[in-house]
Amino acid sequence: MRVLVIGSGGREHAIIWKLNQSKKCKEIFCAPGNAGISEIAKCVDIKATDVDGLLAFAKESDIDFTIIGPEDSLALGTADAFLEAGLKVYGPRRNAAIIESSKAFSKEFMKRHNIPTASYETFDEYEDALKYVKNGKFPCVIKADGLALGKGVIIANNETEAANALSEMMLNKKFGSAANSVVIEEFLVGTEVTVLAFCDGETIVPMASAQDYKKAQDGDLGLNTGGMGSYSPSYLYDEAMAKVCMETIFMPTIKNLKSEGRKFKGTLYFGLILTNEGPKVIEYNARFGDPETQVVLSRLDSDLLEIMLAVYEERLEPSMVSWKIQEAACLVLASGGYPENYEKGHAIEFGENLKNMQNITVFHAGTEFKGEKIVTNGGRVLGVVAISENIESARQDVYEAAKLINFEKMYYRKDIAKGVSRG
Ligand code: AMP
Ligand code: GLY
Repeated sequence: MRVLVIGSGGREHAIIWKLNQSKKCKEIFCAPGNAGISEIAKCVDIKATDVDGLLAFAKESDIDFTIIGPEDSLALGTADAFLEAGLKVYGPRRNAAIIESSKAFSKEFMKRHNIPTASYETFDEYEDALKYVKNGKFPCVIKADGLALGKGVIIANNETEAANALSEMMLNKKFGSAANSVVIEEFLVGTEVTVLAFCDGETIVPMASAQDYKKAQDGDLGLNTGGMGSYSPSYLYDEAMAKVCMETIFMPTIKNLKSEGRKFKGTLYFGLILTNEGPKVIEYNARFGDPETQVVLSRLDSDLLEIMLAVYEERLEPSMVSWKIQEAACLVLASGGYPENYEKGHAIEFGENLKNMQNITVFHAGTEFKGEKIVTNGGRVLGVVAISENIESARQDVYEAAKLINFEKMYYRKDIAKGVSRG
């Protein structure tokens, strides 16, 4: 098959790396891709948001199957455009992707169907939001309604912080129209877990659990980022917890999306928090998570293309998805200043010895070729993944591998997967 993957991040590199192991996969194209992806796929210079351009390319290049990585592409209706043109895709239609693209929608959806989540209110007017936080409890969580690259969430510890966040979002338009509405919700206490799931509209097959690190600095300090590291599995997410989540969250979500005429086909991302009252949903995403995908797909034993085709053809079964016993960790190497301002264009050095580390894979995110050289081209530059007998040994290996990589102003967290042990 000739496969097209849309996107350019570490997530897409991991998806392509895994697809490349499939016997069914003859040739892989990626739009627009990055330097690492170009080593295993043909990159074409079309943006993930250029729906017409992507469709024209898929038609003229006889693409058999297209996988849509990023949320902005899904929210623009790339899946709809491809399906209407008679092409096969992996990824939800726009009316199902709304579960991620509008937090107000997803909160109302959960409320309607009694899916456990933090209590909340939605506001369109700054004055009303301000009045609400003045009378509310702290900390509280303020979220831009729309897509904001994982950065549109502020945890406000007092009235001043809340007022600042609201004026940045609603008056100064820090996230553009994404914060025309905001959701203000109760702050939940507990451990976070990510569960990605393959869904064919009716059947849902959860993948191995994972944990990501959203904050920029060690000790979970600093700003929210797209994700600075991850590991899989989460030891807290045991079989009993998986059963509760299936019954109270996963099945009700997929069933009710279908009954509302929003059949979800693709990867549904459950951002969960394990509270004293049981697991609750912090967020849904309509796609694979980044950097969770890098660890989860590193552990997938089955053929990813076969699973994705089964999703498209609505014949997904749990027996199609199996996992390696090994565990994995991912460390993101970022550009100094990320998630705010950072520089691009610095040459990246990859030490020769990296090739000798058999259990290490380096997934590229913000990289490009400048002549023969690979240079930085984004905030999150690389994701170093190790697969090993347990998370602790994978952690040691990613930090050893990171020592062999260098670029100007490179920074990474020192505490990814640190102190993680089985009970
Ligand atoms: P989101 O983009 O909704 O996943 O939020 C980003 C991060 O903010 C989450 O991963 C949590 O760490 C934190 N967060 C979001 N909502 C809540 C909440 N209600 N209570 C506690 N932390 C939250
Ligand atoms: N790692 C969080 C996300 O992909 O949204």
